[in-house]
Amino acid sequence: MVDLRSDTVTVPTPEMRHAMATAEVGDDFLGEDPTARRLEERVNELFGAEASVYVPSGRMANLVGLQALTEPGDEVLCTRNAHFVHYEAAALAAACGAQPRPLLDRRGVLDPEDVASAVRPPLDHLPRTRVVAIENTHNQEGGAVYPIDDLRALRKVSDEHGLRLYLDGARIFNASTASGVPVSEYCALTDGMMFCFSKGLGAPVGSMVVGSAEFIARARRFRKLHGGGMRQVGILAAACLVALDTMVDRLGEDHANAKRLAQGIAALREGAVNVDEVETNIVMVRTQPLGFTPEAFAEELARRGVKFFTFGPGTVRMVTHKDVSAEGIEIALEQIAGVLGAA
Ligand SMILES: Cc1ncc(COP(=O)(O)O)c(C=O)c1O
Repeated sequence: MVDLRSDTVTVPTPEMRHAMATAEVGDDFLGEDPTARRLEERVNELFGAEASVYVPSGRMANLVGLQALTEPGDEVLCTRNAHFVHYEAAALAAACGAQPRPLLDRRGVLDPEDVASAVRPPLDHLPRTRVVAIENTHNQEGGAVYPIDDLRALRKVSDEHGLRLYLDGARIFNASTASGVPVSEYCALTDGMMFCFSKGLGAPVGSMVVGSAEFIARARRFRKLHGGGMRQVGILAAACLVALDTMVDRLGEDHANAKRLAQGIAALREGAVNVDEVETNIVMVRTQPLGFTPEAFAEELARRGVKFFTFGPGTVRMVTHKDVSAEGIEIALEQIAGVLGAA
């Protein structure tokens, strides 16, 4: 089976399992888990940040991160297809009492002029524009990287208007691998960010919220509020430490596999994939040029052992990761060619 549904399907490596089995642990609720502490220190160093806090999922990371930057009644400027707008059970509204205000973006990149003109005047009857939130890489925009110059421009306009800048960096190591920009440079431009261990880095559980000591103190409190404070969490943190040691440097392989997959499909049917838009490990495929609906295409390939998700109108999404080899990509391409009658 070639499983291209998501990089979240990755399973822990033997090294991670060994580290988990032998991890030194304590009660993290009481601040006594040495492995969790080591993970925080490692992340702080890597991201050049004052503090960080481990949470069970990317969704909880976005929830406590955005809650730490907002008050009820605030508005968060964001991209149209931000993960937290569509896939996080409206947590910003339901739990933070803030509202998202999606702006038109160009593959996940916001125009500073649009941001400036979206900032509301300080009148009692208006929401208070408080945060601008971006995603890097942008999942629903096909793993697009936020160019560092655009991020600097966004920082500038945020400062001019007193906005806080939040980064959903679930796949920040993919962005860093593709752009060559260190994660610390991305982090320095934000007022708070998160990233995930349980996607391309292959750890079984967890995400990290990263930023200033003040931001993390608030995020930590909200983590408790939402039931995300854990006990002998070092068992999970141990796998995350191995992920940082062993999985970051190999992400380029996933990107090369995604490019090869995109090129192979584009060669089968013109217009199905824009190869130039494949910057990291996500490939968006338009199914109309293939003569299928997304559902029928996904069903046909699943029958042949190649799995992926339908993703919005006329599109399926394929994600490469550590558990799909270059050989797996060739198998997927053969099966796709078979379905298209081109084998
Ligand atoms: C960009 C982005 N942010 C947040 C999340 C949420 O992560 P989790 O599934 O761990 O809750 C995802 C999940 O795929 C994502 O792609």
